[in-house]
Amino acid sequence: MIKVRALNKAFGGLRAVRDLSFEALPRCVTSIIGPNGAGKSTAFNLIAGTLQPDSGTVELDGRDITGRAPFALARLGVARSFQITNLFFGLSTFENVRLACQSLERRSSYLVRLDRLARPQACARAILAEFGLQERANELVGNLSHGDQRRVEIAVCMALRPRLLMLDEPTQGMSPSETAEFDALIKSLTGRATILLIEHDVDLVMSLSDHVIVMHQGEKLFEGTPDRVRASPLVREAYLGVDHAAV
Ligand SMILES: Nc1ncnc2c1ncn2[C@@H]1O[C@H](COP(=O)(O)OP(=O)(O)OP(=O)(O)O)[C@@H](O)[C@H]1O
Ligand SMILES: [Mg+2]
Repeated sequence: MIKVRALNKAFGGLRAVRDLSFEALPRCVTSIIGPNGAGKSTAFNLIAGTLQPDSGTVELDGRDITGRAPFALARLGVARSFQITNLFFGLSTFENVRLACQSLERRSSYLVRLDRLARPQACARAILAEFGLQERANELVGNLSHGDQRRVEIAVCMALRPRLLMLDEPTQGMSPSETAEFDALIKSLTGRATILLIEHDVDLVMSLSDHVIVMHQGEKLFEGTPDRVRASPLVREAYLGVDHAAV
């Protein structure tokens, strides 16, 4: 589904992403892990069009999408969430999701009063029900718990009916019970979208992923199944710590 080839990005003298190549297979969960500053979010930004690569290519289903703007990629079926929660905090949960649904409408509908557009309303209600957010529908997103905000972000992404869902540390700041719920949520989405996930929670990565890419200092250090990553001395040393008991 996604093919990244020899991607490079430098910030001044710092090579944040170096010659990064990998593939993410359709309807699989591919996780990117690595220590802080490894270049994971930069790689995401290069794929999702938030940053332009210095060199290299990104293909979506065989189509070159290198450097395309995020809104253009959204129309091609790429939805992503950010490491820092990125929602309209002054709007309600319903309004946030409805905005995403509205973006699928024809442009001429942008001039119609939103409460008269039946489809985005119905779409938003269905998504809220699916994500168990009905009771939060009228609350301002800024007043929700962190876990619920993260859930709304994924609901907003899924409202775009993406083929590729990219999530940057979605469980950051979540409680253990919220993380467990998130695990179930992602598993429920796997049949509907290809998922690219940046995640620090090793247990979650092992539970969710079909394929894991390990980044270190901008480069791909290792890739393989969760079991192979768990067993790799290289990965243990560079990222997980040789004495990481859980791995
Ligand atoms: N816009 C930017 N300008 C300058 N340097 C940047 C910029 N974005 C990232 N960097 C640097 O590039 C390197 C890679 O950062 P990146 O955010 O991709 O890491 P990461 O793997 O996502 O880390 P974390 O796990 O902490 O989120 C870091 O050294 C970071 O300071
Ligand atoms: Mg990051």
